[in-house]
Amino acid sequence: MNRVINYCFVIITCLVMFSCFDPSKPNYQYFPNMYESVGYETYEESSAFSNGIEAQLPVEGTISRGWIPYEFQDSNEGYDLAKTNLLSPLEKNEQNLSQGKELYTIYCAVCHGSKGDGQGILTKREKFLGIPSYADRDITEGSVYHVLMYGRNLMGSHSSQVDAKERWQITQYVMSLRENLVK
Ligand code: HEC
Repeated sequence: MNRVINYCFVIITCLVMFSCFDPSKPNYQYFPNMYESVGYETYEESSAFSNGIEAQLPVEGTISRGWIPYEFQDSNEGYDLAKTNLLSPLEKNEQNLSQGKELYTIYCAVCHGSKGDGQGILTKREKFLGIPSYADRDITEGSVYHVLMYGRNLMGSHSSQVDAKERWQITQYVMSLRENLVK
């Protein structure tokens, strides 16, 4: 008996689904606003600006929200200048250090190792060579930040992965790792 009811149910469902289908017309649209989006008229004429067009380029010197300009160039001179002149705006405290440690573990430890001795998992498995120990490099907080901005030789830039504050937190942690290594 149950089986008969099930068959009836399937047949009725099919009838309901297909009986109203007309192949010459567009089918029923779920979420129609995904197919027919609202058109915004960006380039309408306007009397608000002298060139008469509503869409304007940003004024010169505009920066995107959250972006902090970085004045040092991506060159050897820029590196040297950052190394001697650039100082961290962050306070040295436990909170910044532990944030830095967390980010370092995510973004750097695979190559540089959790102690900063250059013995990350990729070094051990010989997947990436030439990774130095921080103890062997004459680095300052300015140079570390600079390297995070632009990368250096085989190391890529990390400026899109972490923002300015996070770069400084990582820098603080890198300098503390170096101190432990050279002790
Ligand atoms: C894919 C591997 C890799 C990753 C990931 C990586 N590095 Fe490097 N790093 C390198 C290599 C290779 C060098 C050596 C570059 C060179 O030839 O000077 C280097 C060099 C450095 C130096 C020394 C640069 C100098 O001034 O001499 C610092 C500091 C540094 N990395 C910090 C970091 C930090 C912090 C992170 C994480 C945000 C990181 N690295 C992520 C591979 C990596």
